[in-house]
Amino acid sequence: MNILIIGSGAREHAIANAFRRSEHFPVLYCVGATLNPGIRQLVDDYWVGDVADHDTILEKADQWGIDFVIIGPEAPLEDGLADALWAADVPVVGPKKALARIETSKAFARDLLKKYEIPGSPDYQVCDTLAEAKKCLKKLGDGKYVIKADGLMGGKGVFVAGDHLHSLDEAYRCCEALFLTSKSIVIEERLIGQEFSLLSFCDGKTLAPMPIVQDHKRAFVNDEGPNTGGMGTYSDANHRLPFLTEKDVVDAEAMNVSVLKALTEECKERYVGILYGSFIATAKGVQLIEYNARFGDPEVMNVLPILETDLVEICEAMIAGQLNKVSVQFARRATVCKYLVPNGYPDASEKNTLIDVSAVEEREQLYLGGVEEKGDQLYTTGSRAIAVVGVAGTISDAEAIAEMEVNRVKGQLFHRPDIGTDALIEERIEHMQTLRCYV
Ligand code: AMP
Ligand code: GLY
Repeated sequence: MNILIIGSGAREHAIANAFRRSEHFPVLYCVGATLNPGIRQLVDDYWVGDVADHDTILEKADQWGIDFVIIGPEAPLEDGLADALWAADVPVVGPKKALARIETSKAFARDLLKKYEIPGSPDYQVCDTLAEAKKCLKKLGDGKYVIKADGLMGGKGVFVAGDHLHSLDEAYRCCEALFLTSKSIVIEERLIGQEFSLLSFCDGKTLAPMPIVQDHKRAFVNDEGPNTGGMGTYSDANHRLPFLTEKDVVDAEAMNVSVLKALTEECKERYVGILYGSFIATAKGVQLIEYNARFGDPEVMNVLPILETDLVEICEAMIAGQLNKVSVQFARRATVCKYLVPNGYPDASEKNTLIDVSAVEEREQLYLGGVEEKGDQLYTTGSRAIAVVGVAGTISDAEAIAEMEVNRVKGQLFHRPDIGTDALIEERIEHMQTLRCYV
């Protein structure tokens, strides 16, 4: 069994780790833009190159006798790598280009829900001109809008009123700047509540949900500072989150089922891969923030370490359209993931600074992201560098482990010590209680 992993970040390191635990003992290969020393130790061969170079990837898949490919990041999905591989009879975990629009175009995602009358979206408008955008902002009202570029921006194309934008003038300037690179932008109602990620394995018909996770997009403690790719995450032993009601979970799962059906009908293609719903629990119930078409980073580091079912078998079942025949099980354990990022991240990251991970004890739960190896030393490259995960019976104990390990890493790095703490979780619960009181 030969498996090719596309991508070379901490997410793909976590995927490689999970395959390594398989009882099918697959031989792993990687194609990525960078040489990740964590992944390199787990694979038989590794091609560092452009993941948009489909011809070379097809050659490599042939040369290595690849049984299936798993695509980690979103850019190759947008590029149609899955289409190219399927066309060459190489099965892929990761949706084709048309289906991946559920992530790659925010306008497509919102319009799909509207067309198929799936409830749970905020008021929104797709704007093609600045005049349209101004009108829409005025209609939503000062402080009540979110502005989004309609394309992949690595988590950095979203601007929230009150957080990033403090007046209509600032909002107009933001739209103007976005129109320089985006043909259209999406303006939507600002939702207030608590966010959560619900990822599912998907074979086109069946969805197998994973434990629900909460990510922390803001760079600094107390959710301050700029948006990032995600600074850390936690999940609970019961696979729910302490601030969610049973109805929230049922509604989010139902939205995933409806969206999969709509997407399949719209694209006339089978969705094989991960469907990642990013939701927000609000006073009026669960609403959709966005969909992604891949594993979340850091969410993947919460879910895969506690996956009890063999990942190779899940992938084979997704490819064969037989996910209904596999019982996908996760250990009833809580997890906390914390990212160490270079000083200055995300706007002015320090690059090429030394990182020392030698004191980390739980090596299985150490994931390498934006790092480069020179000699036998690791250096920052500018993006999120190192993730550590604590796994325990409670979020509190998992947090203590993650915090201890994070502090064993030395370098010009910072992290969010508040993620997963009792105080932060209590705050989330109280926030939802307050919101629900005012319905
Ligand atoms: P996205 O790239 O769409 O996940 O957005 C990044 C972040 O922006 C989300 O995690 C939210 O914190 C925030 N966000 C996006 N859309 C909304 C919305 N409609 N209301 C409030 N916050 C939002
Ligand atoms: N955790 C955010 C993302 O993967 O997009």
